[in-house]
Amino acid sequence: MNKILVTGGAGYIGSHTIIELIENTNYTPISIDNFSRSHKSTLNRIKKLTNKDVLNYEVNLCDLEDVESVFKENTDIVGVIHFAAFKSVPESVSDPILYYDNNINSLLNILKCCDKYGVNNFIFSSSCSIYGNVEKLPVTENSPIGIPESPYGHTKIVGEEIIKNFVKTTSIKAMPLRYFNPVGAHISGLNGENSLDKPNNLVPFITQSAAGILGELTVFGNDYDTRDGSCIRDYVHVTDIANAHILALKHLIESSTSSSYAILNLGTGTGITVLEAIDSFKKVSGIDLKFKIGEKREGDVAAIYSDSSKAKELLGWECKYNIDDMMQSAWKWQQQLLKK
Ligand code: UD1
Repeated sequence: MNKILVTGGAGYIGSHTIIELIENTNYTPISIDNFSRSHKSTLNRIKKLTNKDVLNYEVNLCDLEDVESVFKENTDIVGVIHFAAFKSVPESVSDPILYYDNNINSLLNILKCCDKYGVNNFIFSSSCSIYGNVEKLPVTENSPIGIPESPYGHTKIVGEEIIKNFVKTTSIKAMPLRYFNPVGAHISGLNGENSLDKPNNLVPFITQSAAGILGELTVFGNDYDTRDGSCIRDYVHVTDIANAHILALKHLIESSTSSSYAILNLGTGTGITVLEAIDSFKKVSGIDLKFKIGEKREGDVAAIYSDSSKAKELLGWECKYNIDDMMQSAWKWQQQLLKK
């Protein structure tokens, strides 16, 4: 059976994508993850949900020889989904070299191996953060790239450029997918975001604050030029994001062109304010979550949401889950973490 190599398979989006690969395709996923930013236990959760063991290589993607040995051992890899990367915006600001070194070298190594071992289908995790402060909403793939807010965001811009140039000289077909705000957990509540650090993102902050692990939630600013003064984002369920990868992969594998490069936005197309997100959480959890209004967070854009019509046209991708599903699954996941 043909294999799909998922880098960062124990990570948040990587693990959900492995679950969908097992459940909805005939491909066998294998993973490279050295657990530098993830937990080994995620692989056990995948097993619990799918009844399948996933072969994982505990390899540092910056080590070319080790990465090559994975390709040598698995000559039946037909596609790569490259998730593995450091992703903390503040950490990248305080240690930019760490971010350039890790995120760029790992990408180069995996591309070199794809080329050398004839793996022609490549999907890259990109981010809507590359658009920066947008003037026109919704954002399409043709919206201008903004000035990178952080070294993390810059590694995504550079990553896309590297891949774009790389496909011109090889037979690789590639798709960078620009995620908006992936949130939520597997709908069973049995797999979810399990970051090693204190969360900075809204949804894990909400669920951990409600669980009493973190203090009171602060809403960063309520005087933006939006319908209720709080920022607008395009939250998209992690399983919908995972499914987009499956469709993208099938599209690449089945397309007959010798090389291609297409960027796709992945968002629901609906902007939700921070206060609306909190209301949704309150509704589905039945918890009267307390919060305070604080200062604006540096680097935040007032509003961003996606025009995802290209993903719909090209892949037939549609989101199944709404903000209530996202909050409910995230809360289920948080509650089952508490049981341990
Ligand atoms: C962040 C990252 C972005 C990444 C994305 C992935 C930053 C600056 N950007 O985007 O690079 O691609 O996550 O999901 O970190 N908020 C609060 N209180 C909180 C936390 C957040 O009010 O405690 C607000 C923020 O001001 C923002 C919204 O919630 O308006 C979403 O924030 P967050 O989840 O951190 O995502 P982004 O900043 O959109």
